[in-house]
Amino acid sequence: MYYLNNAATTWPKPKSVIDAMTDFMLNCGANSSRGTSSERDMNAMNLILDCRIKLAELFGGYDNHNPLLVTFTSNITEALNFVLRGFLKPGMKVLTTSMEHNAVMRPLRDLEKTGVKVDVIDINPSPLPLLIANYDLMVMSHASNVSGTVQPLKEIAEICKKNNIPLVVDSAQTAGILDINVTELNLAALCFTGHKGLMAPQGTGGIIWNPDFASRVKPIITGGTGSFSHLEIQPDEMPDKFESGTPNLPGIAGLNAALDWLNQTGIKNIAKREAEIGKYFLDKLLTIDDLILTGNYDMNNRVSVFSFNIKNFDNGILADELSRAGFETRPGLHCSPQAHKTLGTFPDGALRVSPGFFTQEFEIDKFFDALKGVLLTK
Ligand SMILES: Cc1ncc(COP(=O)(O)O)c(C=O)c1O
Repeated sequence: MYYLNNAATTWPKPKSVIDAMTDFMLNCGANSSRGTSSERDMNAMNLILDCRIKLAELFGGYDNHNPLLVTFTSNITEALNFVLRGFLKPGMKVLTTSMEHNAVMRPLRDLEKTGVKVDVIDINPSPLPLLIANYDLMVMSHASNVSGTVQPLKEIAEICKKNNIPLVVDSAQTAGILDINVTELNLAALCFTGHKGLMAPQGTGGIIWNPDFASRVKPIITGGTGSFSHLEIQPDEMPDKFESGTPNLPGIAGLNAALDWLNQTGIKNIAKREAEIGKYFLDKLLTIDDLILTGNYDMNNRVSVFSFNIKNFDNGILADELSRAGFETRPGLHCSPQAHKTLGTFPDGALRVSPGFFTQEFEIDKFFDALKGVLLTK
């Protein structure tokens, strides 16, 4: 099989990630802060701290990359729920965009029923001509998982700062691929998932917090933290405040190794390679007859995610035919009905092809041979 579905989850993962997870399971396996300070206990605690430090550094965390301002979650969906449900209260107003994934839209629509006012601004796909007034929060994705369009985060962050509006970013499609500096952007919270551009296993993710904002967010999950055990109420201290229950330690071992791999490879080199393989794909795609492409027609402000239709060809059938020929893609709505409505591809959706860092040019050549073969049968 040829894997062209990296927007869903990156694959393969670096071998060092798998080795680190196996090593943790074989040689450590301890819980964190829930033992006797044995060597294994200390190794587990050190692993978590090490990973927090790397995440705070990677994303330019506040207070000189304070690792305590990093929360681990099991994915970005959980991270976004922690932030949105923990912060927004009835009567508050939140602004989001028309390109969001359901990881943002569903919590917001749910909160709307409790009296939170939700405004959705239409952005397709150009910079936001924003007029922000009186919002308690803005939440938006850095890049669309449908069109691959990268939003002008810096400009939006400046507008939010000027208007004193906390900005929360969904970095699912950009973390590990584009530079993101939480402090420079003055973000309230950056939510990330481990299993895409960060090259970590599924079941990892988290939040990088602005400390003042974190102090205004209520934990939506409470319970044992391995600390302050004399208390029946949730500790306010970070990172315990948002981390109840046993963490995904094998996953964090994998994430920790993935961050080493990212640092060694260099985000700039990753961005360069993704842009290169993306351009290789896009140049070929643009020669296909009857193409209806979403997003930019060049690699400017674009990640390597391409959703398109071929006129009069059902994208589900196309994906199925390509799958039979050995190519893994993703048709349909990509958990993003709002984005597809904005792009004019709702309700049928589009075929999404997402080459990744490890994709080779010859795989793309083979993909287009297969695509042309399928289209000939139309
Ligand atoms: C933009 C965006 N946000 C959120 C998510 C949800 O990610 P996860 O399933 O890791 O929580 C995705 C995954 O497809 C995404 O592309």
